[in-house]
Amino acid sequence: MKSILLTGTAGFIGSNFVPYFLEKYPEYHLINLDLLTYAGKLENLKECEDNPRYKFIKGDICNRELIEFIFNEYDIRGVIHFAAESHVDNSIKNPGVFVETNVNGTFTLLDVAQKYWMDKPFIYKEDYEGCRFHHISTDEVYGTLSDDPNDLFTEETPYAPNSPYSASKASSDMIIRSYVETYGMNCVITNCSNNYGPKQHDEKLIPTIIRKCLAGEAIPIYGDGKNIRDWLYVLDHCKGIDLVYHTGKKGETYNIGGRNERTNLQIVDTITSILDEKNPRENNKSYKELITFVEDRAGHDRRYAIDATKIENELGWRADETFDTGIIKTVDWYLKKYDQKQ
Ligand SMILES: NC(=O)c1ccc[n+]([C@@H]2O[C@H](COP(=O)([O-])OP(=O)(O)OC[C@H]3O[C@@H](n4cnc5c(N)ncnc54)[C@H](O)[C@@H]3O)[C@@H](O)[C@H]2O)c1
Repeated sequence: MKSILLTGTAGFIGSNFVPYFLEKYPEYHLINLDLLTYAGKLENLKECEDNPRYKFIKGDICNRELIEFIFNEYDIRGVIHFAAESHVDNSIKNPGVFVETNVNGTFTLLDVAQKYWMDKPFIYKEDYEGCRFHHISTDEVYGTLSDDPNDLFTEETPYAPNSPYSASKASSDMIIRSYVETYGMNCVITNCSNNYGPKQHDEKLIPTIIRKCLAGEAIPIYGDGKNIRDWLYVLDHCKGIDLVYHTGKKGETYNIGGRNERTNLQIVDTITSILDEKNPRENNKSYKELITFVEDRAGHDRRYAIDATKIENELGWRADETFDTGIIKTVDWYLKKYDQKQ
């Protein structure tokens, strides 16, 4: 049995990844490390609790002693690194913790892995040759795009992060790159667009829209609502990570995106239409009435859109969900979640 260290799995993407990965690979023992910050919830992983190949450890990726202990205790043979501070608004209010977790935490994990797996630069210890470090990153490292639909982020797009969040993720990507170049370490990076789906934290756009609708409260939309994001259903991201972890080329970066560009206004329009049908308001008015424009986010990137040609052509990845199919599943999941709590 091979032990793989997964970090940040009590959060949104990690907690969708773990059940998928556990079921697909019966030969893996998954060690899950998460600090359980405000963003991590153990109930996200409830379905895995009784699985003997799943182990949860509460701890900080910045704690070197703990990381060394975990590598030794479980003889870690691979890392998939999700843990991060991930909310742009929080990074504007409190950037320090983003640098601490996203930059220093990534460095600590990577450095411990390098020393545990390798004898010296470019020489892996006997038996450890296949060990791989997969860093989960974001398309936000590339900055913002023009409105020209042909303008897309590729793996060659120069980094130009605009928020403390994206700058901290860009920094962590650079540290990974340096360990490939300097030590010949077997690392891969995936830069993904905006995810949506079950288990996302209440603070993010789509859960906020649904929550506010159900509470009959104003739905806050930044600026003119015309900022564009490229939306990917979370399970399609998980499948892309699986593919890159197992078949990606050492030292390479792969962009993952759903070719589903939407403005924030289109998102809110779609969700309110679905809710109008599935869960009509008592006054029979549309939820659209609740849309309220609020002061724009500082440094708000205008448009993100991914060119996923590389992962599609080289590794055969395809998104299974379109936005129209994924958003229905998502709304159904949150309707159940929020109803249960009301
Ligand atoms: N959500 C998206 O749309 C998106 C898109 C592209 C890339 N990403 C990247 O994917 C990864 C996961 O994102 P997410 O949306 O699931 O984030 P999330 O905020 O939902 O979860 C992050 C998890 O990391 C944990 N964590 C935070 N600091 C930690 C620390 N110091 N030590 C250990 N654990 C810690 C939290 O407790 C939480 O469980 C991040 O690296 C993020 O940058 C996210």
